[in-house]
Amino acid sequence: MSIIAVGSVKASPGVTSLSVGLGLTWESTTGRRAVLIEADGDGGVLAARFGLASSPSLVELSGIARHELTIIRLQKNCQLLAGQLPALVAPGCGESTTLVLAPLAGRLAADLGGLDDIDVVVDVGRLRPHSPAAELIKQCDLLVLVARPHFDQLVPLVHQARKVTAHDIPTALVCVGDRPYPPTEMAKASQLDLLGVMAHEPRVAQALAGGLPANQRHRRLLMWRTLTELVHRIHYRLQAAATGLAAVQP
Ligand SMILES: Nc1ncnc2c1ncn2[C@@H]1O[C@H](COP(=O)(O)OP(=O)(O)OP(=O)(O)O)[C@@H](O)[C@H]1O
Ligand SMILES: [Mg+2]
Repeated sequence: MSIIAVGSVKASPGVTSLSVGLGLTWESTTGRRAVLIEADGDGGVLAARFGLASSPSLVELSGIARHELTIIRLQKNCQLLAGQLPALVAPGCGESTTLVLAPLAGRLAADLGGLDDIDVVVDVGRLRPHSPAAELIKQCDLLVLVARPHFDQLVPLVHQARKVTAHDIPTALVCVGDRPYPPTEMAKASQLDLLGVMAHEPRVAQALAGGLPANQRHRRLLMWRTLTELVHRIHYRLQAAATGLAAVQP
């Protein structure tokens, strides 16, 4: 099992949209099942965006914290997003999410590590000191930092990249859009590998807010191809790290 944490350093660059996109394309690309966990200390949006119920959620999962986390227990607390992706949603309110997540995150990360057959994409929201998702970030197999290539995001990105690298958290960058500041320059300045660039496209956002029907027409869309390519690269990095190979991009 791998934990892929997705987060940002500033503004709202598209973390949740990318997390949903990775989750929806994970199984068809890697052949492994995926679960999406919403662990954003500012509160969840998935239930509202995808017309899901407020429960089950992280709250109900925290109720079983004294028992071992099994795939069955995890899935029992998930809802199907876009009819296909099991998602553990967070309460819409940041305070409630923080109260539930802060004491749960360490145990959740450790227990997820014991689940063999499934990979987990975790939307950790904005990285801040005292994030309730801190333990999930520390124990993740890959942290994907999402940024818009704007000059005002560069300084916080460089700062955060230094911090996570100092904590030995394997981290890579995804840019949303390719202007005005070249994504390669964002990567160079932050010394992060650039995993890829998501097109800055209202249609992308619209599709990821309503689900990606897995039909051929959508598979041909650039967005779908970009997501699939990102999943390939992430999966390759995870496999390379697990087998001790150099994580050269395929
Ligand atoms: N690739 C994209 N192209 C254009 N718009 C996008 C893209 N991805 C996300 N957006 C839009 O940007 C806004 C923020 O998206 P999203 O909620 O995914 O960001 P976030 O980083 O999770 O934000 P927050 O920090 O508030 O959780 C939304 O209006 C969304 O529709
Ligand atoms: Mg978000």
